[in-house]
Amino acid sequence: MKRVALSLLFLSLSVLLIAGEKELGTGYELENVQVIDKSMRLADARRYMITFNEALDVQCRDCHDLRNFASDEMELKLTAREMMLMTKELNEKWFPDAEAEVVTCFTCHQGQRLPPRDAHTGDLLLPQE
Ligand code: HEC
Ligand code: HEC
Repeated sequence: MKRVALSLLFLSLSVLLIAGEKELGTGYELENVQVIDKSMRLADARRYMITFNEALDVQCRDCHDLRNFASDEMELKLTAREMMLMTKELNEKWFPDAEAEVVTCFTCHQGQRLPPRDAHTGDLLLPQE
């Protein structure tokens, strides 16, 4: 009986430990997402986030505390969330029948943290064909 109680205690302690430690690993469930689907698998979320790294030439750590990806402490992450929402709205409103996303982060950012602008007019430069 005592043993059962002890192992139950141990089990709940490890669950607590795992919950407190938000490092990525198998079984990780998305916790604090407002734009992407909460049921998205970690591998898919990671793959999607890698497109941010490439489209903006940034690293995961520019938007995330690597020990707690769910944290909203970094300013760049908050801006990125607004940008995700904008991009999603553009696609849903203007390209509802498209099979894949038409507007992506890359459309405007083109591999730069701040989208390139014309030096004289200040207008955003769209990707060249
Ligand atoms: C330009 C900023 C940015 C970069 C770079 C970025 N992320 Fe994110 N990430 C976000 C935002 C914003 C969210 C929240 C999305 C939402 O609210 O739907 C997020 C959410 C996540 C989550 C879900 C966390 C949770 O439990 O709530 C994981 C995991 C994650 N990112 C992993 C990564 C990894 C791995 C990389 C690098 C390959 C990366 N991210 C790069 C902005 C970024
Ligand atoms: C329709 C064009 C457009 C799209 C699409 C777009 N962005 Fe942006 N983004 C901008 C512009 C313009 C700025 C600069 C705003 C400014 O000058 O204040 C910006 C700024 C940002 C910044 C702040 C950079 C900094 O250093 O302050 C982040 C982060 C960002 N975008 C992330 C994203 C992500 C992630 C996506 C895709 C989900 C995305 N953007 C899609 C136009 C776009």
